[in-house]
Amino acid sequence: MSGAASLDAILADFAPEQASLLPILHEVQAAFGCVDAAAEAGIARYLNLSRAEVHGVVSFYHDFTPMADPRPCVQLCRAEACQARGVDALVAAAEAAAGSRVRIKTVYCLGLCSAGPAARVGDTLYARLDEAALVDLVNKL
Ligand code: FES
Repeated sequence: MSGAASLDAILADFAPEQASLLPILHEVQAAFGCVDAAAEAGIARYLNLSRAEVHGVVSFYHDFTPMADPRPCVQLCRAEACQARGVDALVAAAEAAAGSRVRIKTVYCLGLCSAGPAARVGDTLYARLDEAALVDLVNKL
């Protein structure tokens, strides 16, 4: 992350209370593409939490990453309902299409359990993916 002043600007928009932690983390992730160690420390100080408490939340949720990755990312759900609908059979083809150009990130549930296999790119959700649709999605990024 760069720019302590920018982190300060984000923090200033939130009350210094524990309930602000997740909204702050989402803002930091969106602004910097990651929530790195410096951000965790700054957030912990602001919210009067331990660094371990902040890190525990950052590492628990798949939306937060410790380092920025400029590649486009396909979040592919591999939780139980999507597994039952065949997502595991799509992974190899998606990874082959992605190569090192696109990141395929495993997530666990995107809220489309009855319409899996499901994926998300940015704020856009994709449902009922088959191999051709998923490869096409990866290729268009
Ligand atoms: S299990 Fe895949 S969207 Fe819920």
